[in-house]
Amino acid sequence: MALSLKFLVVTTAILALASSPSTASDPSPLQDFCVAVNDSKATVFVNGKVCKDPKLVTADDFFRSGLNKPGNTSNQLGSVVTAVNVNNLPGLNTLGISVARIDFARRGLNPPHTHPRGTEVLVVLKGKLISSFST
Ligand SMILES: *[C@@H]1O[C@H](CO)[C@@H](O)[C@H](O)[C@H]1NC(C)=O
Ligand SMILES: *[C@@H]1O[C@H](CO)[C@@H](O)[C@H](O)[C@H]1NC(C)=O
Repeated sequence: MALSLKFLVVTTAILALASSPSTASDPSPLQDFCVAVNDSKATVFVNGKVCKDPKLVTADDFFRSGLNKPGNTSNQLGSVVTAVNVNNLPGLNTLGISVARIDFARRGLNPPHTHPRGTEVLVVLKGKLISSFST
């Protein structure tokens, strides 16, 4: 009995030493926000954009309206994407967040595409959507 307990303790200790916890994530941002601003003279960029002076940031930098309006799906694909990202909501810069409204006509489609290093959540508000993933 004592021998098997000793064996168990030694085995557990070896396994604990042999394995190490591993995590994979992006490094933490160095600042809470970096509101994007277009400055053609700037030489320092964060995520490809220049940070607005934090003292000049306003609530409007984090506001975007219009996602309540349906897009015009009268096109060849029968779908339209209304994206909200750093280009039209500068406060999203470096936060790794974007959102999109996609309107589909009956049998409309959104062509295969990728979102490198991104996670996508789809919420269907009305109708039925067929979606697939491939590796
Ligand atoms: C920056 O410039 C781009 C390209 O001209 C434009 O699409 C975008 O809306 C501008 N962003 C800001 C925050 O002014
Ligand atoms: C939708 O787009 C089509 C094709 O461009 C256009 O003929 C039509 O007027 C648009 N409809 C609206 C409501 O904007």
